[in-house]
Amino acid sequence: MKSKIPVAILGATGTVGQKFILILQNHPWFEIDELVASPRSANRTYKDACAWKQDRPIPSYLRDKLLLQAGARLSSRILFSGMDSSVAGPIEEDYASRGHIVISNSKNHRMDSDVPIIIPEINSDHFAITKKQRFAGAIITNSNCVIMPVAMILAPLHQAFKVKWVQLFSMQAISGAGYPGVSSYDILGNILPFIEGEEPKVEIESQKILGRLEEDSIKPADFVVSAQCNRVPLIEGHTINLSIKFEKKPNPQQVKDILDTWKSLPQEKKLPTAPGRPIIVFEEENRPQPARDIWLENGMAACAGRIRECPVGDIKMVVLGHNTVRGAAGAAILNAEAYVSLGYLQ
Ligand SMILES: NC(=O)c1ccc[n+]([C@@H]2O[C@H](COP(=O)([O-])OP(=O)(O)OC[C@H]3O[C@@H](n4cnc5c(N)ncnc54)[C@H](OP(=O)(O)O)[C@@H]3O)[C@@H](O)[C@H]2O)c1
Repeated sequence: MKSKIPVAILGATGTVGQKFILILQNHPWFEIDELVASPRSANRTYKDACAWKQDRPIPSYLRDKLLLQAGARLSSRILFSGMDSSVAGPIEEDYASRGHIVISNSKNHRMDSDVPIIIPEINSDHFAITKKQRFAGAIITNSNCVIMPVAMILAPLHQAFKVKWVQLFSMQAISGAGYPGVSSYDILGNILPFIEGEEPKVEIESQKILGRLEEDSIKPADFVVSAQCNRVPLIEGHTINLSIKFEKKPNPQQVKDILDTWKSLPQEKKLPTAPGRPIIVFEEENRPQPARDIWLENGMAACAGRIRECPVGDIKMVVLGHNTVRGAAGAAILNAEAYVSLGYLQ
């Protein structure tokens, strides 16, 4: 790529916005040109408006950059969106209407019939549905942060053995609720067995991601998901216990072999943010663990361990993903890389 593509971050001050900033600094294809947030933050410097919670400092070239207000005219063609879902829907539509390519983390448009939920290892062909959108630009989404590692595990297994049903039980870190998120009074020394709006999303998104692209729509894959989602007192990393029933029952070794060797478009094209190994399979019986494993492959891998027979389904396992990287900002950046590398950005 000769010169870098200027990009904007919508919701730049938030939990996901901060991860966008860290992953995009020194990106070989994209450079951050515009930072956008709410009217509360507009016209303030990034360092003043943002409650920065990362373990590396704000990149020096962005500390004093002035924030723009969402809705302002932007010159960047690609907009990465980490806006609060209470406002993201119409703002993203407005920017897509003005010709921008909005790569969104928010739930608002994920289930629209002409909007794909992309995981480039699984369904980069679904980008084609954006041509049916009513916008001069486009809206592209990534999945919910729980479904991201789960869909990556299910995709190669569905292809080989056809999934019939999935039961999942999640233990989700507090960064998944944004900042300030859940109050410390509620989460310290505690588990919250309810996350508003989470289970309905988790029960439908993987079927769309693994679905088949047809003329004007995406036909969802034909399996059911039952989800129980819990908030646990960790900062980052979502752990999910999975039980899967297949049409053709595999043994645990077959499952391990398929997951361990799975590679796809981001690896073949060597996209800058692609993990070399999209799925990491552990043999140790006490892994994966969020404290040890979320940063493997720069936070872009789905980790799987304890793969064994299930007396109710066929196979059960433990899955781990970095919710704000592979489950949010990193996923969106990988989507943009795939979009550009497939020639969609005209
Ligand atoms: N956290 C995760 O693990 C995760 C994973 C996947 C998807 N998501 C999704 O990503 C989005 C962002 O989540 P988050 O965790 O980063 O939330 P967050 O920490 O609460 O940040 C929200 C961002 O939205 C901005 N915002 C709020 N009101 C706005 C308005 N009226 N106009 C424009 N911008 C506005 C905020 O700007 P101000 O600072 O100016 O208020 C802030 O930058 C949400 O839709 C969430 O569901 C999050």
